[in-house]
Amino acid sequence: MPTYGNKTIEFVKGRGCYLYNNKNEKYLDFASGIAVNSLGHCHPRLIKALNKQSKLLWHVSNLYIIRTQEKFAREICKKSFADKVFFTNSGTESIECGIKIIRGYHTHFKTGKNEIITFEGAFHGRTFGALSAQKNKKYSNGFEPLMKGFKQVAFNNKKELKKAISDKTAGIIIEPIQGEGGIRPASIEFLKFLRNICNKNNILLFLDEVQCGFGRSGKLFSYEWAKIKPDIMAVAKGIGSGFPLGACLSTNRASVYMRKGSHGSTYGGNPLAMSVGLEVLKIISNQIFLKKVDNVSRYFWFKLKEIENEFSIVEEVRGAGLLLGIKLRSNYLEFSENLKKNKLLNVPAADNTIRLAPPLIVSYKDIDKSISIIKKVLKEIND
Ligand SMILES: Cc1ncc(COP(=O)(O)O)c(C=O)c1O
Repeated sequence: MPTYGNKTIEFVKGRGCYLYNNKNEKYLDFASGIAVNSLGHCHPRLIKALNKQSKLLWHVSNLYIIRTQEKFAREICKKSFADKVFFTNSGTESIECGIKIIRGYHTHFKTGKNEIITFEGAFHGRTFGALSAQKNKKYSNGFEPLMKGFKQVAFNNKKELKKAISDKTAGIIIEPIQGEGGIRPASIEFLKFLRNICNKNNILLFLDEVQCGFGRSGKLFSYEWAKIKPDIMAVAKGIGSGFPLGACLSTNRASVYMRKGSHGSTYGGNPLAMSVGLEVLKIISNQIFLKKVDNVSRYFWFKLKEIENEFSIVEEVRGAGLLLGIKLRSNYLEFSENLKKNKLLNVPAADNTIRLAPPLIVSYKDIDKSISIIKKVLKEIND
């Protein structure tokens, strides 16, 4: 189905931060799929893990013990707030699981609450739960009716949020850094405020770290910057570095209703995905690796801020870690296309913003290269 429109570029090979098209032309990949290839393309340790598992066992049903799945879940729990993990194949499935956890929790405790608050500019995926939560006509037009039970308020707005909370409020879903919405970080103060208000009102805090999790912010999970812990969290994208994989993480208390038969997935948690995910986690959760991501992202930020000062067409550089956006005053789609023509891959987001999400293994040299391409293209737009 032509859901992605016309395409012009075909990539046939990838290595590290580079992609090669069918004419063997080299592109600097600062899109990483869409913030997916956390360890770049064809990382040798991931190839090894996948190859090894592919010779042993690809698929068994979740009706059987999958030791790698148990091991991976234990490792994720050790390195996060979570006590339990449900494995999925994508971000939107992880969101669906989290919505069920919220509703199930309030069913179990008979609170009578079932309403979920989300934020303007949010993107949680393309399934009906996600479409209903994000309330963005761009994605849901023509597919109505959506699910009931979602309310939306302005992002980073304490006052509106306070007003929206009622005795029906069961959960709050937020991306610590909005991706599709234009690379807009929630302020640390706002995240702390959400944690407090959730505690006071028996509301579950559900973070969507599908795009901003797994090292992209310079910490393993973005919530660590705010020194808060969620009750539920959706992850995907970077967790598999290109292998389709997602997960919904939860505390024991929040997932109290998730018992035998309450949820399932044919493929979620399959041995191939688990072997790759486990290796990704081993690499990314290493503190030296994360420190390097933090350092390189600060360097990138500083260079982009110089560009913001130099070019009046740049309204703002924003984001966090290696999830950065350049907001233009106009022509951002032309800007995005011209960067691509100059062999720098990027992805447009909402709010006149282009997104830069290089693999976490990006070098200072590659950052410098991207900066000179961005400057060249901005100069051409300015002329
Ligand atoms: C924050 C966020 N949540 C959920 C999703 C949906 O993930 P998927 O496309 O894997 O279903 C995305 C995808 O871009 C996302 O950025």
